[in-house]
Amino acid sequence: MAKTQRVLVTGGAGFIGRWVVKALLNDTAARVAVIDDLSNGRLENIADFRNEPRFELFQKGKIENRRAMEPLFEKFKPTRILHLAAQIIVQDSIDDPAATFRSDVEGTFRLLEMCRASRASLLFMSTCMVYDMAASSGSIGEAHPAVPRSPYAGAKLAAENMCISYAHAYGMPVTVIRPFNTYGPHQKSSGEGGVVSIFLHRALRGQRLNIYGDGKQTRDLLYVEDCVDFILRAADSGRASGEIFNAGTGRDVSVNALAEMALATVPGTASKIKHVKHIHPQSEIMKLCCDARKARRILGWKPRTPLEKGLAKTCAWIADNLEKGRTAWS
Ligand SMILES: NC(=O)c1ccc[n+]([C@@H]2O[C@H](COP(=O)([O-])OP(=O)(O)OC[C@H]3O[C@@H](n4cnc5c(N)ncnc54)[C@H](O)[C@@H]3O)[C@@H](O)[C@H]2O)c1
Repeated sequence: MAKTQRVLVTGGAGFIGRWVVKALLNDTAARVAVIDDLSNGRLENIADFRNEPRFELFQKGKIENRRAMEPLFEKFKPTRILHLAAQIIVQDSIDDPAATFRSDVEGTFRLLEMCRASRASLLFMSTCMVYDMAASSGSIGEAHPAVPRSPYAGAKLAAENMCISYAHAYGMPVTVIRPFNTYGPHQKSSGEGGVVSIFLHRALRGQRLNIYGDGKQTRDLLYVEDCVDFILRAADSGRASGEIFNAGTGRDVSVNALAEMALATVPGTASKIKHVKHIHPQSEIMKLCCDARKARRILGWKPRTPLEKGLAKTCAWIADNLEKGRTAWS
């Protein structure tokens, strides 16, 4: 990304956001700003980058709040928005759909309007959770039917539609990406932090690995640096505007198999696997396997990190944190 680019990362203090900020600073010449309300992110995630000369500013604030956004746009003058901020916890969206709507739909609308006024481009992080379940042997391409099974997925679909409508109505450069489950260092290992982090964290502590339901649900697990490579390619591509792209590996594993792999990554662990009652079975998607051929064709993207290697890297990071007695991230 050229040094003329001024990139605003929304949700930049979150798990994927901090890796995006890192890659922007290490691998591009762009100037960077972050807005995050710290509802699920942490300042520690970007502490290493705050003194970089090209990291211009961090603002604590909500994207849906006009009073927070207008001065930020005036001051930083972004040319490109990488929009990752969202309320991501499915159960929270079921318990309090209004909060998810405000953040994920109204917040995206606010950004689109700010981009329309300032002629900035926008990349929107949607999710594979918008898809209907696939046939047992099939993978999911972008044309697969969408069926939002939670207000989280519903909000993402609504926001996606607004994004695509701005590409058509105003010729704005807007791209939507739908990553499959993303994992890696810096992901939370509590609550719905991420199944990989939760399993590895518990395996390292010799605690039980709880699997919701029968564990036959499958996930296509994308290593976070591959996801970030995808984001930067899509943002930089002249052929991505008005398009929706899947990001995933094309290999899915059942949660049962993943639990076994997590135990194998921590030799000698005393952890055992237990199946427990699902907390939201109505919002579960039983098979998630990505067909990312469109991204390969148009963006030249392919994942580089096999699951075993990604698990080992994530495990090493969690183990290091446990050793240092750092628990705030979990
Ligand atoms: N992690 C995954 O497996 C995955 C998969 C597909 C899509 N995504 C999408 O990627 C994006 C990043 O996900 P993540 O896993 O890093 O989650 P995350 O919760 O770590 O990051 C989201 C960040 O946004 C911030 N935020 C939330 N609401 C906000 C608001 N209204 N205003 C400002 N900041 C706000 C949070 O504090 C957090 O730091 C999200 O849009 C998510 O839907 C994630």
